[in-house]
Amino acid sequence: MCGIVGYTGPNPALQKVLEGLKRLEYRGYDSAGVALTLSKGQPLFVAKKAGKLNNLENELAAKHESAHSGIGHTRWATHGGPTDENAHPHISNDGKLAVIHNGIIENYLELRKELESRGHKFASETDTESVAHLLSEHFKNTGDLAAAMREICQKLRGSFTLLAVHSDAPETIVGARRNSPLVVGVGAGEHFLASDVSAFISHTKQALELGQDQVVEVTPDAVVVTDLTGQVVQPKSFEITWDAKAAERGGFTHFMLKEIFEQPKAISDTLTGRFTESGVKCEELKSINLNAKRILILACGTAYHAGLIAKYAIEEWAKTPVDVELASEFRYRKPVLTNDTLVITISQSGETMDTLMALRHAKELGAQTLSVCNTIGSTIPRESDAVVYTHAGPEIAVASTKALLTQIIALQVIALYISQEKKTLSTHEISKLRDAMLSLPNQVEEILETVEPLREMTRGFKDSTSVLFLGRHVGFPAALEGALKLKELAYMHAEGFAGGELKHGPIALIEAGTPVIAIMPPVTSEISEKMRSNIQEVKARGANVIAICDANTEVDASHVIRIPSTHELLQPALSIVPLQVFAYEMAVARGNDVDQPRNLAKSVTVE
Ligand code: M6R
Repeated sequence: MCGIVGYTGPNPALQKVLEGLKRLEYRGYDSAGVALTLSKGQPLFVAKKAGKLNNLENELAAKHESAHSGIGHTRWATHGGPTDENAHPHISNDGKLAVIHNGIIENYLELRKELESRGHKFASETDTESVAHLLSEHFKNTGDLAAAMREICQKLRGSFTLLAVHSDAPETIVGARRNSPLVVGVGAGEHFLASDVSAFISHTKQALELGQDQVVEVTPDAVVVTDLTGQVVQPKSFEITWDAKAAERGGFTHFMLKEIFEQPKAISDTLTGRFTESGVKCEELKSINLNAKRILILACGTAYHAGLIAKYAIEEWAKTPVDVELASEFRYRKPVLTNDTLVITISQSGETMDTLMALRHAKELGAQTLSVCNTIGSTIPRESDAVVYTHAGPEIAVASTKALLTQIIALQVIALYISQEKKTLSTHEISKLRDAMLSLPNQVEEILETVEPLREMTRGFKDSTSVLFLGRHVGFPAALEGALKLKELAYMHAEGFAGGELKHGPIALIEAGTPVIAIMPPVTSEISEKMRSNIQEVKARGANVIAICDANTEVDASHVIRIPSTHELLQPALSIVPLQVFAYEMAVARGNDVDQPRNLAKSVTVE
């Protein structure tokens, strides 16, 4: 969480930094701030403000166009509430050095005590401010900002991306990273540093990845990367394939709505090049042992739901047993893993701290690792043995939509590929599934073309206090996802249940008028009748049932949302779309901030 950007070059830095912050605001929006180097040896210009980036922008209105280097930060508060004082940048007592930070400095209290005893005055409650004072001490000794950064990184515990500027070196920005993301954008006579490439894609497509415990020094004309001993290292360069337009709203009222409507294209991009006349292609898995005795999927939030859905396909098609676990739980237990286990991590951002730590835990235990990820060059794929990218394009809204659908599809492609290699499915079965998968983009399009009545119906439920989601089989994780989206966006009580569990407790929640969204499997499914009975059970207790079902399914519900027919295991890629629209519309109707829901951030890079 927290978005970080730095710019040095011939153009006005304030404008570039604010532009980058706008693109990174999804990472945190409790407060924002900038520091600009105006002239050599003079105190920096610093402005910071609690609240959304707008507050800072209003305060700044066209100031300090003359500065050509600067840093900016958008915050998701961890240590210290979202106030002006706690907003970044944090400044040395002489006002000449500024630091911004993403992550957590675990030993900040210890450092603060020592620094205070040496006379440093603190102005905030943050962990980051200790870094600013410590760095200024080391800079005084060395006169070299990069060297000072290397020294202090050895004293810091925790996770961090740090950027620092000092007015004695007005064109220089120094960055460092440990367990948090930092990329360098390489322009013509200018450089950018940022948490992710979206901050600078409208200026350059050339980027450099920074490794763990590396320090980077940028000026307009040079980039030098070193390890913490000062040894120069060659950073990995990559080309950004995302289109700058893709990170803009393009006429939609919210990024989330735009991203929901991008799903047909996103799925089609995920599937591009995956099928040949003779079968499924997945070159990325060439180095992976597909005869693993067991697959363990680790992920958080919506990505975890993708894993739960994929389990059904992997087990049914590839006949490999699959467990799915929350990465945040896995990393704190003592699992039994061997090199016979293939661990698949799923992450849109590729930076989720819990998933990253779970991946490292699995590697230490000797498992093979594969990641399914959307963000090229991010940490999780970099540290995995193999990666399958989802190619969903940039997802800016905090609520994950197109990332989820493409994760499901990518995992199902992997399942098909394993089945082909293990020969657990016949060529004919694979071709049938291929055809069904290739129809999904058009089918999602069809749902989106007929979404207006659903939006209108949703507004009718805006004053409900609770919404329940029911599903069975793959419909159960889809129900969990529907509930997560609604909590996240509409701030309503929402829960997803397995239909069969109703009578074991949750049915007590049903009152007259309680909205229950029921996801019906295709009529051919062996659980179709069971779901129909579940609907009767909740109806008999007064529930207002909204059923999501395909055209062939007859259902007794107050509202029926139709989706196209598909293979049972592929159905979540369709049934989840109306659930996304429901949550979106509910958030709008309740006056909530759709793209930046309260208390959340897009990528959770802290524990
Ligand atoms: O970037 P990741 O896919 O690793 O993120 C995992 C979760 O934090 C994420 O899916 C979260 O649950 C979404 N905001 C849900 O919409």
